[in-house]
Amino acid sequence: MFRTHTCGELRLSDSGKSVTLAGWVQRIRKMGGMSFIDLRDRYGITQLVVDDSVSKELNETAESLGREYVIQIKGVVVERSSKNGKIPTGEIEVRINEMKVLNQAVTPPFTIEDDTDGGEDIRAKYRYLDLRRGPLQRALALRHQVAQEARRFLSDEGFIEVETPVLMNSTPEGARDFVVPSRMNPGEFYALPQSPQTFKQLLMVAGYDRYFQIVKCFRDEDLRADRQPEFTQIDCEMSFVEREDILTTFEGMAKSLFKNVLGREFSEQFPRMSYSDAMNFYGSDKSDIRFGMKLAEITSMVKGHEFSLFDTANYVGGIAVSGGAEYTRKQIDELTEWVKRPQIGAKGLLYIRLGADGAKSSFDKYFTQEEIKAIAEKCGAVNGDLVLIMAGEKRDKTQEALGTLRIEMGNRLGLRKKDEFAPLWVYDFPLLEWDDETQRFYAKHHPFTSPKPEDLDKFFSNKKEDLEQVFANAYDFVLNGTEIGGGSIRIYDSKVQQRMFEVLGFSEEDAQRKFGFIINAFKFGAPPHGGIAFGFDRFCSLFGGQESIRDYIAFPKNNSGRDVMLDTPGKIDEAQMNELFIKSTWVPPVK
Ligand code: AMO
Repeated sequence: MFRTHTCGELRLSDSGKSVTLAGWVQRIRKMGGMSFIDLRDRYGITQLVVDDSVSKELNETAESLGREYVIQIKGVVVERSSKNGKIPTGEIEVRINEMKVLNQAVTPPFTIEDDTDGGEDIRAKYRYLDLRRGPLQRALALRHQVAQEARRFLSDEGFIEVETPVLMNSTPEGARDFVVPSRMNPGEFYALPQSPQTFKQLLMVAGYDRYFQIVKCFRDEDLRADRQPEFTQIDCEMSFVEREDILTTFEGMAKSLFKNVLGREFSEQFPRMSYSDAMNFYGSDKSDIRFGMKLAEITSMVKGHEFSLFDTANYVGGIAVSGGAEYTRKQIDELTEWVKRPQIGAKGLLYIRLGADGAKSSFDKYFTQEEIKAIAEKCGAVNGDLVLIMAGEKRDKTQEALGTLRIEMGNRLGLRKKDEFAPLWVYDFPLLEWDDETQRFYAKHHPFTSPKPEDLDKFFSNKKEDLEQVFANAYDFVLNGTEIGGGSIRIYDSKVQQRMFEVLGFSEEDAQRKFGFIINAFKFGAPPHGGIAFGFDRFCSLFGGQESIRDYIAFPKNNSGRDVMLDTPGKIDEAQMNELFIKSTWVPPVK
């Protein structure tokens, strides 16, 4: 046997046993006539002891060891004199009587321990070394567990996993496509799926009424901590269902993941909120409901006081920061600069301080003390609080900016606890979003999302105001302020689907060319259906208490979409380009 035990397995009860272990040398310490070696594998660390007086040969092998050497040892388990309560094997050590170096290692560019001295770039370049570290090994093990648990749950519920193509055509999820040239079809391109959306709907037409797939999706979009160009979805679809069936089924899945992966029980139904409540109270359709500090609208209370900032605004709202009356002028100025950054785009910030000396605000001269107090109260403030107020021309944009400030204050006040989980369903989204720049509607979710049946008349109207009032039968699953999943009840009537493409500005020919396959499929007896897709990487990172999904992906890309270990993307040679009938028009900028 190569090894009788792993490096995480031996306990005091194993004392006296002869064992064989194999692993990596994490550390070597010399003390008196003894050498101590921390031997590591993915199960843990075991302390080995070499008594220099045992044999000259053993001593020489021990002397030759370096960090990350791969060794095999034989020895006897003994109780340690100074125990280490921090690791499960901390009560024992293994006294070595034989040691074999299986492979040497050059000195690694950073320390391979839970707390490493390596910066992000160097660790990305040597990802296979970073992956030896405990936190990453635990992250990937968690990912594995979530996947197994999701598969088990869905399979028990009668879902079958069906794979769909990676070389396909464009799916309209709203990002740019990654494309692949076709050698056999010169001048033509495949697109990598942004999601298997159209395929899963075709599977419903084909009668596979409960489908799921843990599947790679590809989106060429700006990257952030919770976005990768290739990521994984738990993608699901069901036939003969209404919204309630979907919410109940997938709430069941989320609860089973919480219970079986994290040991957390949710006995109550998850909270549910309409999109408009989410915007009005949290300034975000992915509301973090772990803490209060809700947005309060004060538009009507502040109008008509000759204060033009309020008088010209279409929305004025505030949040009450608990204990914030202590904030100094300097701190408020710093917050004001923070909200003015382009990412947030607020014009400024007003405030009311409810201190021992009464209410003080940045707009005192336009209001009486009583009026200011009433505004603060409307925002939910009590004595000792600070009210932060924003006024803006656009209701949703101002609410979003205030919502971002709410999250920032939540972070600063330590209200967003990583080990607290607050799931939430958000639904009743608008179906369409008008874009001023291109003067056209976009689908808020995607073009296969069904309008609410009661809004169908408006959907077929040609008035912009009517179309703006159409709501979608769509829902998002939100966890701790992150959108983890999104889905909808789908259109299954070819006329409604055709109308959707028309509203989105596709000509009839264009719609036929791009989506003819699905419009036509709906003419062959499509069942009512709906579904949802969960961001699997996001699920895992939140379960692990992290904001970035990168550590939950074995080989992720950096923020420029590069894999620095493979040094990809890279150039391909001329012959390959010619074979594909492609030419690069890229001209590097002159420096
Ligand atoms: P949607 O576009 O909302 O819906 O995607 C579903 C979920 O996938 C995750 N996600 C991402 N995760 C990491 N990196 C990304 N770049 C990224 N983009 C999305 C999010 C999101 O909630 N076909 C529909 C689903 C449906 O209607 O059934 C879809 O893809 O957690």
